Amino acid sequence: MKQLFSQAEIAQRVKQLAMEIDRDYPQDQPLVAIGILKGSFIFMADLVREMEREIALDFIALSSYGDATETTGVVRLLKDLDVDIKDKDVIIIEDIIDTGLTLEYLKHYLQQRHPRSIRIATLLDKINRRQVDIAIDYIGFEIEDHFVVGYGIDHAQKYRNLPWIGIVE
Ligand code: IMP
Ligand code: MG
Repeated sequence: MKQLFSQAEIAQRVKQLAMEIDRDYPQDQPLVAIGILKGSFIFMADLVREMEREIALDFIALSSYGDATETTGVVRLLKDLDVDIKDKDVIIIEDIIDTGLTLEYLKHYLQQRHPRSIRIATLLDKINRRQVDIAIDYIGFEIEDHFVVGYGIDHAQKYRNLPWIGIVE
């Protein structure tokens, strides 16, 4: 497997994103980070530990891929939120954005709960693959159209524990 981002490169970028998020949100307003399972779990764990402000955490599970490497465009909700997000600032934490269909679905879904705001943070963005126009507020790295794994991201449930990000050949 070919390495795309090393552990050190990822750590440095995650720290910068955490500082940006800390700076952008008012300290006196509740902030909830919502991780999309399972791919975001390592990114989220590292990101929130680099943040200094108070933050609540929750997770949501969605599915559109099965074991395939291409999205089906059909998103299913597998696990809903536990916390109430009404009038709170919400930041969705995603591992990688491809067509944008998953995030578009989730953003509309969460808007029905009337949060104060919704922003999106993703570690990786395959910007050239986008099928829907959706604003991404925090992007770790923009990447070309490769199938990548590691740092939480899988291929058929494998490689999530790889500490760096690599390209599957
Ligand atoms: P989208 O709905 O097409 O934007 O797909 C986003 C989701 O597809 C991500 O949350 C990932 O779970 C998955 N995905 C997209 N690209 C890759 C990849 O290169 N490797 C592994 N999973 C990917
Ligand atoms: Mg995902």
